[in-house]
Amino acid sequence: MTEHNADHETAHDAQAMDERNDNRSHRPETDAFREFMASHWGPRPSEMPERSAAADYLQARADKAGEPFAGERLVIPAGTYKVRSNDTDYRFRAHSAFAHLTGLGGEKEPDAVLVLEPLTAPGEAVDGSTHEAVLYMMPRASRTSQEFYADSRYGEFWVGARPSLEEMEALTGLRCAHINTLRDALAKDAGQVRLRVVPQVDAAVEAMVNEVRQQAGLPSGGDARAEDDALDERLSEIRLCKDAYEVAELQRAVDVTHAGFDDIIRILPRAIGHRRGERVVEGAFGAVAREEGNGLGYDTIAASGNHANTLHWIDNDGEVRPGDLILVDAGVEVDSLYTADITRTLPVNGTFSEPQARIYQAVLDACEASLAAANKPGARFRDLHQAAMEVIAARLEEWGLLPVSAAESLSADGQQHRRWMPHGTSHHLGLDVHDCAKARREMYQDALLEPGMAFTIEPGLYFRADDLAVPEEYRGIGVRIEDDCIVNEDGSVTRMSEDIPRTIADVEAWIARLQS
Ligand code: GLY
Ligand code: MN
Ligand code: MN
Repeated sequence: MTEHNADHETAHDAQAMDERNDNRSHRPETDAFREFMASHWGPRPSEMPERSAAADYLQARADKAGEPFAGERLVIPAGTYKVRSNDTDYRFRAHSAFAHLTGLGGEKEPDAVLVLEPLTAPGEAVDGSTHEAVLYMMPRASRTSQEFYADSRYGEFWVGARPSLEEMEALTGLRCAHINTLRDALAKDAGQVRLRVVPQVDAAVEAMVNEVRQQAGLPSGGDARAEDDALDERLSEIRLCKDAYEVAELQRAVDVTHAGFDDIIRILPRAIGHRRGERVVEGAFGAVAREEGNGLGYDTIAASGNHANTLHWIDNDGEVRPGDLILVDAGVEVDSLYTADITRTLPVNGTFSEPQARIYQAVLDACEASLAAANKPGARFRDLHQAAMEVIAARLEEWGLLPVSAAESLSADGQQHRRWMPHGTSHHLGLDVHDCAKARREMYQDALLEPGMAFTIEPGLYFRADDLAVPEEYRGIGVRIEDDCIVNEDGSVTRMSEDIPRTIADVEAWIARLQS
């Protein structure tokens, strides 16, 4: 093929592509249509939205975020849409750092960027706030614009009306500005003012920040990565202790998740008769998550029988058989984007067999030991895992499964017991199911527990069907029990999920009650 032909083919292909993408469009292009579409619309609602419940907390959160970075401009993108296939996107869900600092939940606010604008010069002594939060967003377009009816991703005709700048200010209490002014705002005094951006959230915003840095002679791209990572780390660490609003939202997430588990129990008889009973269970929980919250905090694990031993079993395409256990790990994310993370392991026919009960009780004892460790004065986060492991190792020794003593297994050089519980016992919980993931080890694993910390306790025991190191009666049984906990103002730790039954007797009674 000649050079000329190649060009020709490329142009031809591009045109064909345009035509293919146009397959579904029947939009008229006449001036008459455009003029008529732009006219005869009633007035916009005159009432401003109510101030959000989170708005009163935003200044304190911004103060904490900005404290180590006086005199610097901090850029926190919401993120943009992600393509699911071709021209169909996933529902938008803002990055958690953005949600935390704006209080915006649900599907708000794609492509927005929060900027913490420095109020002081670098190094200047600060008395009060170091930064002012300004939200850059795309306000709704005029109904005379083509976007209004022609843009299927952003247009009001297709996805509904976005708020105006004034409405967003009323909702959040933040100063709001048009996204078109972001570039100039970032470039203002660049050189004297350094910039940091949360990395890997919005490539376009990151590129804009790097361009501004380059033009100002500041380190950019990989050379600025350590500075950006320090911002990311800070935004994770300021979420370690939840404020009163966050604690209430987490409790709501747990309560709605409880309702979801109730529906799972009610649907179990139908699941038993279905060739993909696990999907029946997943669907019942998902319905509650969408009806009562924003959706799922993470993909539901509905793992019956031996599937429970695949830790992240989300295929959920198996049968649910009487006589087996079904492990369900599920959490509702409420509209504010806080999520619960609960696991219950239920006997499908309503009662535990003797070996199932023996394993279940060991896991429950590990839960109790972990909670007791959390309640000791001076407890550190890592103590929770250690306490659970001591129970698990002791029980495995008692059952004759360990090739060494429990003490040897618990030593740094041993760890044989982890064959049957290879995951951690606990993680922080909040806007992300694994919250505060960028926090430094000394702020997370090695830190003292503090009021407002929210975390899971989730030991388990997993005996795979092909595990020849355990007796046959244990094979194919997997148990995890997961609760969501909070450190109260007085330092005590309680389970936010204490109303969701979990002892053997309570679980059996729960199933009997809801299925009667
Ligand atoms: N559902 C994920 C976890 O328990 O950590
Ligand atoms: Mn968890
Ligand atoms: Mn979980």
